[in-house]
Order: sequence, then C-alpha cells, then structure tokens
Amino acid sequence: MKTSTITTPIYYVNDVPHIGHAYTTVAADVWARWKRLRGERAFFLTGTDEHGDKIAQAAAARGETPQAFADRIVEGFRGLWKKLNISHDDFIRTTESRHERVVQGIFEKMKAKGDIVKGVYEDWYCVPDETFFSTSQLKEGKCPDCGRAVEKLREESYFFRLESYKDRLLAHYRENPEFLQPPHRAAEIVNFVKELKDLSVSRTKVKWGIPVPSDPAHTVYVWFDALINYVSAIGYDPSKDWESQSGDFKEKWSGAVHLVGKEIFRFHTVIWPAMLMSMGLPLPRKVFAHGWWTVEGEKMSKSRGNVVDPAREADEFGVDALRYFLLREVPFGSDGDFSRKGLLGRYNSELANALGNLLNRTLNLLEKNHGGQIPDLAPSEELMGAQALNSWTRAVDEAYDRLAFHEALQKVMDLVDAANRHVNAKEPWKLVKTDPAAAARCLYEVARLLKLAAVALAPVMPTIAVEMWKQLGEAGPIPDAAKLIFDHGDLRFAPGQKIAKGSPLFPRKESNPAKPDL
Ligand code: MSP
Repeated sequence: MKTSTITTPIYYVNDVPHIGHAYTTVAADVWARWKRLRGERAFFLTGTDEHGDKIAQAAAARGETPQAFADRIVEGFRGLWKKLNISHDDFIRTTESRHERVVQGIFEKMKAKGDIVKGVYEDWYCVPDETFFSTSQLKEGKCPDCGRAVEKLREESYFFRLESYKDRLLAHYRENPEFLQPPHRAAEIVNFVKELKDLSVSRTKVKWGIPVPSDPAHTVYVWFDALINYVSAIGYDPSKDWESQSGDFKEKWSGAVHLVGKEIFRFHTVIWPAMLMSMGLPLPRKVFAHGWWTVEGEKMSKSRGNVVDPAREADEFGVDALRYFLLREVPFGSDGDFSRKGLLGRYNSELANALGNLLNRTLNLLEKNHGGQIPDLAPSEELMGAQALNSWTRAVDEAYDRLAFHEALQKVMDLVDAANRHVNAKEPWKLVKTDPAAAARCLYEVARLLKLAAVALAPVMPTIAVEMWKQLGEAGPIPDAAKLIFDHGDLRFAPGQKIAKGSPLFPRKESNPAKPDL
C-alpha cells in the first residue's frame, strides 16, 4: 500500500505556539486523518526548528542556554498538539542527532560535488526572519517582510549554487502543474526563479547551529538546516544515492505533500527543490501555501498584544469546534480573519443550530414516537437517492484530497441544511398521528444523512463525530463504515438499531460581555 506523507513546517521555538501554527497543523492532521479513514496509509510529520540567532537571542534574553530554552518551549508545542488532537506520526527537532548527522552529510556531499563553494557574503540580514535581502529589496531601509531594522553582514560564507538549478526548476514547474499550489501563487515563484542568485548557506557569526564538519568555524544556515528535516526524520542516508536508500524512506518520501504558510512558499518551492535535485532525490508531489490570519481585522503581533492562543479558544468553544472554524471560515489558500464574532457566529448557526439541533430533534422524535430505534426500512429516493449519494461522496473525497477543506465542510453543511428543511416540511411530530409510516420514513432518511455527516466530519471533528456515531447507536468503528459508504454507497443500519441519545453536542453560546463581539 502506498504511503501518503504530509508535513507541516517545523516551527521556530522562539516563542509559544499561536493560532497560525495551529492552522497549518490542524490542516495537515485533517488530511492525514482523511487518508487513514479511506483505508490508505498516511505519514504525518511535524516538528520544531531550533537553531539560529533568533532562538539564541530569545534564550539569552531569558538567561537560558539555547538548548534548555528550546527544550522548554518545545513542550508547549507538544502539549498543544495533544490538546488539539493532532495525530502526527513523528515529531522532529532540529537539535536531535538523527537530524544533525544528515544535515552535515548533505552539506559535505554537496561540497564534494561542487554544488557548495566558498565565497564572501555581503548583504542585509533580518535577524527575526533569518533572511537576507539585497538593498533593492529593502522597504525604506527596513525588512520588506516584517518592517524591522536590518543589519549589514559581510563575511566569508559557503554558497549553494542555486542559480545553476534555474532551468531545471522552471522545467519542473512547467511539467508538474500540481507542484505549486494554489495555482495563483505560481507566477510569483516563476518570476523569482528567473532572477535567481546563489544562496549563502553558512554563517561564521552565528554560533547556535550545526557546524560544517570540514570547516567548523562555519555554521550551517538555519533554512538549509531546517528544510532537511523532511528527509532526516524519515531516514534519509546522505551516503547513498536514491536507489540505495531504504525501502521505508523511499516509500515515505515518494509523493510527499508539504503544507506551508504563504510567506515561506519560496523556500519550499525554490531552495528545497534545488537542494533535492543536488541530492539526487525526487521532488515532493506538491507544496501548498495557505493564507494568513489577521485577528479582528488586524495583523497578529506580539506588539499589538492580539496573538490568539489556540488553547484558550479550544477551552471556550471545544477543540472540535475550533478545528472546524479554522478550516471552514476561509478557503484553504486564502487569507482570513479570526474574529470572535466569526467564531461565535459559526458555532451557533452551523454547529449548534444546524448540526447539533438536527441530531437532537431526530433522536428525540425517534425516542418519543418510534421506540428509540432506527426504523427498519430500506433506503429510498426520498431525501438522498443512490445517485445523489454517490456524487456527494465523490465530491467530499475529492475535496479533502485537494486540501479544499472548506468545500468538504460546505458539502456536509448542505446535507445538514437539506435534512433540516426536510424535517421542517414533513413535520414528523404531527405526521406520526396521521401516517406513522411516513413519519418513520422521514426520520430514517434523516438518520442516514446524519450517519453520513458523522463520517465526513470525522477528520475535522474526531471527538464529535464519534459522539454522533454513538448517539445514532452505531456499534462498529467509523473507518469500517467509511469504507462501506465511500466505496459502496452503503448507508444501512443494523436491524432494530437502538439509538443512544446523549447530551447536546454543541450547547449554544451566548456572546460573552467580557469579550465583546467587536
Ligand atoms: N521555522 C520556519 C519554517 C521552517 S520549515 C522547514 C518558520 N516557522 S514559524 O514558526 O515562523 O511558522 C511557520 C508557520 O506558521 C507557517 O506556515 C506560517 O505561515 C504559520 N503562521 C504564522 N503566523 C500565521 C498567521 N498569522 N496566519 C496563518 N499562519 C501563520 O517559518
């Protein structure tokens, strides 16, 4: 069976995790969970980027060694992923020896090959962004990305001969239209590559990092170091060529998908592919850049004091509702705004009123009028016929696969809305008095759609989906049902299936006066 590998960027440990980190990680988690639910094998990698001046300075400011500081901050990431129900298969830290060894091996391999050469570097450096800029790139003398002051650096440096990969990179983009995603971001990369320059990949001034083995006065540039995590974590051996790598590595690396924020798309679509070409490794199948969140309409920043703590939101709204909001609010790939009004609005209207209420009223009526069990009926065309079911499941499957999470969730909400309209139109609580068979039919069809919704929502809301499942009286595991539903359109219930009504999934939330709605 083919393994589908998905990665998040490895996060800097200079500060605690925020909603932006949670976003990429939840998205990768949903994709991995979807693959697993569909019976495929997924490998989901995340981790932390722990070297470089930015971390060293943050540690120094707190009077800690960089390693002790990283060890402490990394726990915040691990703890948050646990809380958010993230199902990663591995967590790589760039300070681990399994990573450092590989970085050193790759550096020396490229040096021996003539792809890394010594020279002199002079340019503007932004410490917080760990990025060099030419004078023309600066904005009013400041960092064009973050607007902070930059410093002039002149030092002996090793260079990766990035420019020599220009034509091969352009050819790769042309021949693999799926590589740069979403497609509207491709032009910027192509233009950037046309002007490509060699890349400085070592620093003598930076001490906190991986030393170049053959020239230890040099520290490997933090981005060169960080990008390698994607292969060091899964067992790449730099002393061997691609054919001689382990079967496990080849399996995991072939066709990998990288999720990244839009600001680091370039690193993953230009520098990283060129490094892989130099290493003689295949390129990832796709690199997907998602957008950025503003907070209540403003850029999120420490200085503005508006950094959103995902743990706090999860405590208030529930982990699953937060995961839902992040993927539902904006198309993956576009920018979005994280606002209390938006979160509360979606929570109440879509989760509490539409989904939660549909389950609740259906189970109430089944309990009251139909002996607390799903009527023993065969599927009909009344609410969703076989053909409609088939095209719906295909659309959801395909949307998840394309990372179009908002589309998959929209499909689920369309289903929920259709079911609610059906109940409103049929009024099974009245119908039961005049035509009990028709009332049973109505509730049976709605229960079918709720079962379908639970499976389709499972990657986004894993805990809620299981709760819905239990309340519908389903005994078997969701993945088994997913296979039957998505491969065979089989939405049957067990004969005489007893429901198990529980507490409401999404208690309505009032707007909190302590946190005004805007
Ligand atoms: N360490 C590098 C990545 C190296 S990958 C080989 C790095 N780390 S980071 O901690 O700064 O953050 C990485 C991720 O967080 C990016 O995907 C970025 O887009 C995401 N976000 C940070 N702030 C964000 C928002 N305000 N909104 C959405 N995502 C944002 O870069």
